[in-house]
Amino acid sequence: MQQHQLQTQLIHATADGEKTSDVREPIHLSTTFVRPEDGLPGPMVYSRLDNPNRLNLEKKLALLENAAEALSFSSGQAATLAVFQAVLEPGAHLLIPDDCYHGTRALLQLVLAQWQIAWDEVDMSNLEQVAATIGPNTRLIWLETPSNPLLKICDISAIAQLTKNKDILLACDNTWATPLVQQPLALGADLVMHSTTKYLGGHSDVLGGALMHRLNGPIAEKLRNIQRLGGAVPSPFDCWLLSRSLATFPLRMQAHQQNASTLAEYLDQHPKIEKVYFPGLSSHPGHAIAKEQMQGGFGGMLSIEVKGDQQKTLKLASSLRIFAHATSLGGVESLIEHRRSVEGTNPKSPENLLRVSVGIEAIADLIADFEQSFQLI
Ligand SMILES: Cc1ncc(COP(=O)(O)O)c(C=O)c1O
Repeated sequence: MQQHQLQTQLIHATADGEKTSDVREPIHLSTTFVRPEDGLPGPMVYSRLDNPNRLNLEKKLALLENAAEALSFSSGQAATLAVFQAVLEPGAHLLIPDDCYHGTRALLQLVLAQWQIAWDEVDMSNLEQVAATIGPNTRLIWLETPSNPLLKICDISAIAQLTKNKDILLACDNTWATPLVQQPLALGADLVMHSTTKYLGGHSDVLGGALMHRLNGPIAEKLRNIQRLGGAVPSPFDCWLLSRSLATFPLRMQAHQQNASTLAEYLDQHPKIEKVYFPGLSSHPGHAIAKEQMQGGFGGMLSIEVKGDQQKTLKLASSLRIFAHATSLGGVESLIEHRRSVEGTNPKSPENLLRVSVGIEAIADLIADFEQSFQLI
């Protein structure tokens, strides 16, 4: 059978390859499924284990990252926790980025505290530092590139080389870049994690997470068990919403990226802006690696430092009329956030930093919105 392109498959693919008479997929709310005459489990048993909407979604998620298997979860955090549970035994050590999503660090600090896990927070854009921090008990390296919120770029294939022939799993949170921009598995990562709440969902109305991998053996088995027995699975409706979103994902991502590039260039020239963090700018320290590694563009996220203090920065954010001053990212609507305010007791972000999730509104309107807001600070 002819292999269709990804854009087509994201609209038409189903888990079993069959088309039904429903042009759009129905939602399967039943939690239990009838057994065949022999009483043994049929293809579906119980919806924590499997559900037609989840299987269809997981088929598309696997296609996106060119993975052997995709497992969907009820949130990005549930997916990350599944990796930690599957890979780390008591006494294990892992590396996380010094600039990673704060919730990833919080899982280690607050949820896994009694597991006696050790970790180092490393500047992943510094290969020597990564190599020097790997120890005999290192079992996992967790990457996030671009990082959050400083958009640091690390070289996935160079770090994959460091894990070669070692008992270390390389995982990459690909939420910000998205699989249309960057393919960590092709660059040597073993596993990719997504908060599907972001670009894959794309409309800020569904929470979800996913793991895509090419592992076989005990870790793959453990991940499946954590998903199905732990039960942090997405509901059929959430799976349906996400499948629907994936149909427009390539188009949305193009618009996000175009808008982000134009906005980054505009802000980079603005006298009230101190600094723009966007890997598409040639001045970005990770630009050369990003150009090589992010083959589909530079993503839709950027951060800015405002000339001035926290008060002025907050005033700029709250004076914008189109950009909502809210957390999260990857939706069709533009968002802006003062990260320092939400980073808890040990904040890392500069006080004048704002993180911007550039939506798909008309770019002229987004720039005009910044213009009117700049007048007020
Ligand atoms: C990069 C990144 N990873 C993981 C997560 C966690 O995902 P979720 O909120 O879906 O649990 C987030 C959420 O903001 C994120 O930005």
